[in-house]
Amino acid sequence: MESTEEALPRLNGLKILVVDDDAAILRSLKRVLAGLGAEVTGVGGVREARLSLSVARPDAVLADLQLKDGSGLDLLPDYLAECPRGTFYMITGHGSVDNAVRALRRGARHYFEKPVDPLALARRLESDLAGARERGDLAETLAPYLTFCDAAMVEALRDAPRFARSREPVMIQGETGTGKELVAHALHGLSLRANGPFVAVNCGAIPDSMLEAELFGYEKGAFTGASRQHRGRFEQADGGTLFLDEIGEMPAAAQVALLRVLEEGVVHRVGGERGVAVDARIVAATHRALEERVHAGLFRQDLLYRLNVLPIELPALRERPADIALLARHFLENSLRDMEWPGSAPVFRPEAIARLEAHAWPGNVRELRNLMARLAVRLPEGLREIGAELLAPLLPGGKGRASCGEGVLIPRGTTLADAEWLLIDAALKDSGYHRGKAARQLGIGERTLRRKLNDA
Ligand SMILES: Nc1ncnc2c1ncn2[C@@H]1O[C@H](COP(=O)(O)OP(=O)(O)OP(=O)(O)O)[C@@H](O)[C@H]1O
Ligand SMILES: [Mg+2]
Repeated sequence: MESTEEALPRLNGLKILVVDDDAAILRSLKRVLAGLGAEVTGVGGVREARLSLSVARPDAVLADLQLKDGSGLDLLPDYLAECPRGTFYMITGHGSVDNAVRALRRGARHYFEKPVDPLALARRLESDLAGARERGDLAETLAPYLTFCDAAMVEALRDAPRFARSREPVMIQGETGTGKELVAHALHGLSLRANGPFVAVNCGAIPDSMLEAELFGYEKGAFTGASRQHRGRFEQADGGTLFLDEIGEMPAAAQVALLRVLEEGVVHRVGGERGVAVDARIVAATHRALEERVHAGLFRQDLLYRLNVLPIELPALRERPADIALLARHFLENSLRDMEWPGSAPVFRPEAIARLEAHAWPGNVRELRNLMARLAVRLPEGLREIGAELLAPLLPGGKGRASCGEGVLIPRGTTLADAEWLLIDAALKDSGYHRGKAARQLGIGERTLRRKLNDA
């Protein structure tokens, strides 16, 4: 017989704190939520709730707005500071929607109006917290490698732990400084071959004529100067991971040879007859849209298909605004720790965060990390809060950063280095963050631009 009833929500193992001074509501919520598998604590006021927050560290808090000793809203900042991954809900009496909206703005997830339907509430918790748990698990799994919280990164990296366990090639795409190399390390570290070697090759940094010898090795006498046999990077990566960085720069001849290795699982040293079986997992990375290179005849389509089995596309930093504040804090704390800064790191004031969020970050996370390193050495000792004025001189263009119409306004007093940044910034914006086009507009080579961005 088919049941028309919806399945009951499952809250197994979730820790929920309910704060309400109405004993009847408290009892009924506790009964229903506990019946669905949650571990529920009920308290009647703000003071008790505070005590419970730090001890129990609940996954979710449901708080009534009006309590005898204050407002449930007062708990929100404490809770989020204590449990950044927690989810906060308001329970409001009829007619206090304004306050509920205020709560939403400050980070509450949702509000329930009285009389609360416990089952509807449980359904909402189930769907919200499953997402929160998934986000938290992913961030935790990848925490030794990458720091992130933005939904765009969660989306991009959702499959990374599973990809890590596969043998198929992974292709990581993303602008410069988005963390491609860190992702490659994560894929190795979370794989079954984590104890094997991790070998990286930057295909853009090795002269074309040497790349094949570098990758596949050579036999003694294969060419002038080959005085003895040499194992290439492929062989060195046997049993581990071979990271082919900047794969888009690979010259045509090496592309053909690589395709053959991928298809046969066998490496031929330059000048060698015999193939050597190699078990290396390939992770490739590129800052370019490889499809465009294929269209331009610079990259082999068959190689792209062979490499692009498990794709990971990292969003630019400006496309994941929630990560900006998190990473700024992370890098600042690291820099200050290295400098043996006494006490806890100062916090960013909201307008400082807004200033960071307004910047376009053409150099992505690397640019943010370098900026924090420059900020750390400038902080006066004992400073508790960082305002926007401390950041202004460090961001490209400083205070005078402005674009007017088609031109770039460079105020008097701008340093040469900052003026250069203004132009780079404008060229990147004009080109839709296409480094090749931006470099052409600036009249420099793309490699030079990349170096400037890397050194930012
Ligand atoms: N999510 C992150 N958490 C912590 N550090 C990060 C993160 N993303 C990037 N970084 C740091 O930013 C810098 C650049 O990262 P990485 O070298 O992985 O970028 P990339 O995408 O390989 O850049 P490029 O294309 O220029 O080679 C590194 O110092 C790295 O440690
Ligand atoms: Mg890189």
